[in-house]
Amino acid sequence: AQVQDISADKAKKAKNMAFVFDIDGVLVHGDRLIPEGKRALEILNGDNELGIKIPHIFLTNGSGKPELARTQQLSNILRNPVNTEQFIQSHTPMRALAEYYHTVLVVGGEGYRCREVAEQYGFRDIVVPNDIVAWDTTIAPYRVFTEEERASSRPRDFSKTNIEAILVFSDSRDYATDMQIIIDLLRSEDGRLGTIAADPLSQRIPIYFSQGDMLCPTEHPIPRMSQGTFRIGLEAMYKSLTGVDLDRVVYGKPEMATYKYADEVIASWMEQLHGEERIPENIYMVGDNPASDIIGGNMYGWNTCLVRTGVFQGGENDEANPANFGVFPNVLEAVKAACRKQL
Ligand code: G3P
Ligand code: MG
Repeated sequence: AQVQDISADKAKKAKNMAFVFDIDGVLVHGDRLIPEGKRALEILNGDNELGIKIPHIFLTNGSGKPELARTQQLSNILRNPVNTEQFIQSHTPMRALAEYYHTVLVVGGEGYRCREVAEQYGFRDIVVPNDIVAWDTTIAPYRVFTEEERASSRPRDFSKTNIEAILVFSDSRDYATDMQIIIDLLRSEDGRLGTIAADPLSQRIPIYFSQGDMLCPTEHPIPRMSQGTFRIGLEAMYKSLTGVDLDRVVYGKPEMATYKYADEVIASWMEQLHGEERIPENIYMVGDNPASDIIGGNMYGWNTCLVRTGVFQGGENDEANPANFGVFPNVLEAVKAACRKQL
């Protein structure tokens, strides 16, 4: 009976904890598995002494693909189920904007995949930069526009269209074209191309960025520039051209809106797993980037675990944003330590 009591007590404790995983640099490097990630997820999916599932969600600043496509890809790499209902990409919370804007410019990503993402979020009228270049190639003087791109674009007369908001979903594949079009729209009268607003403040349309990371680790030995640097470039250009500061909204880690959204996802995933829609008391964030995962988790009152398999290459802990639960060689060690403490 005593053994049963101990197990019941541990099972109760297991329902009072949850993990939030960063993806790049914690579970995978691009399309390559970090082997300890697979084992960590197996433990949380029930391969543990209690045979109980421990709730966990995925919170990534990654972007550029529909949620279902990305979770299927991750399930294959990680050899563990990844459900769209436990998954947040940088642009996932931006689905809420579909209610407020009818015609939007969606920037970034490969080919037309971000158009697909925006369609799935319920945006009604989606424009991508290629649609605008196809309408008037002189808008982007240095762009070589291929016949293939022309065939898959959707031009219209943009001098008669009001674009109501700019949504940067993913990294720009062509800074020159995208920056030119974004600046044109920000300087225009209410998002109408071909115009320049007399009052840049009252007539300016809003701009949203899905995340603010400056650098992103890639196959290249030195990390590459990401959406944060793209945004800073735009802010500087806008200020020098108009004399006024560019107001903008940034989503993704470490922005508060994204953590609030994560709370909602944790609560509804708890309901799916354990039939109780609530946020467990002990949340553990496992991340590799002190400037996004760890600072955000610390601010939000989560237990933060920094791993050494990604961006962080430092000493005992990060100096500017130290992880409050500890630094671990990999995600498996972090999960084991958190389970030892809680169960
Ligand atoms: O910097 C963009 C992205 O690759 C970061 O992904 O999973 O580490 O938040 P993640
Ligand atoms: Mg990461």
